[in-house]
Amino acid sequence: MRVPIETERLILRPFEAVDARAAYGWFGDPVVMRFTPGGPDKSIEETTTRLANYREHQIAHGFSKWITLDRRTKLPIGDSGLLMLKDYGWIDLGFRLAQPCWGKGLATEMASAWVRAAFGELRLDRLRGLVHPENVASIRVLAKLRFREERRDTIMGMNSILFLLDAEAHLT
Ligand SMILES: CC(C)(COP(=O)(O)OP(=O)(O)OC[C@H]1O[C@@H](n2cnc3c(N)ncnc32)[C@H](O)[C@@H]1OP(=O)(O)O)[C@@H](O)C(=O)NCCC(=O)NCCS
Repeated sequence: MRVPIETERLILRPFEAVDARAAYGWFGDPVVMRFTPGGPDKSIEETTTRLANYREHQIAHGFSKWITLDRRTKLPIGDSGLLMLKDYGWIDLGFRLAQPCWGKGLATEMASAWVRAAFGELRLDRLRGLVHPENVASIRVLAKLRFREERRDTIMGMNSILFLLDAEAHLT
């Protein structure tokens, strides 16, 4: 797919190995990772491995989790993107920001860009989003994008609500 994705305030691009130090700032933050199965990364090495997995996923599928940069300062502030969850048979939309960036509409801005890419350029027919029931900000972001609750279950060991958005629902 086209690289990078640019929005009004953000630049989204695939992760590079040199991003590990900056990305550990949020992947290692227990507050940011509270609702992520597996919890926070415990070292930069864990973040380095995580980013290598994202790069392999990009090569295999043509999309992945990408880093988010502030368009004005060019500084890394989070990640977002699509992951193929093979064990479950769906493509998951995820988004995450360093704490100082919360509450400004940035997650909605980057998640919207991924929805457009998914149903446009990538021609996917549906997306899912996996959220802990107490993760109200994330649930609100998915609701703003017109995701609908599909079911509640324990997924990856996490008490979860599974949200669904069909391409047709997005385009109508
Ligand atoms: C989830 C996350 C990305 C949201 O980022 P954000 O940039 O603050 O999100 P936005 O500003 O685009 O939208 C958040 C919405 O939730 C609402 N919200 C946030 N906290 C809330 C709360 N405690 N109660 C009710 N609504 C809340 C906001 O008001 C906003 O809705 P609005 O636009 O209708 O006012 C951010 O909190 C985060 O990184 N969390 C940790 C990682 C994570 O859990 N990611 C999701 C896993 S799927």
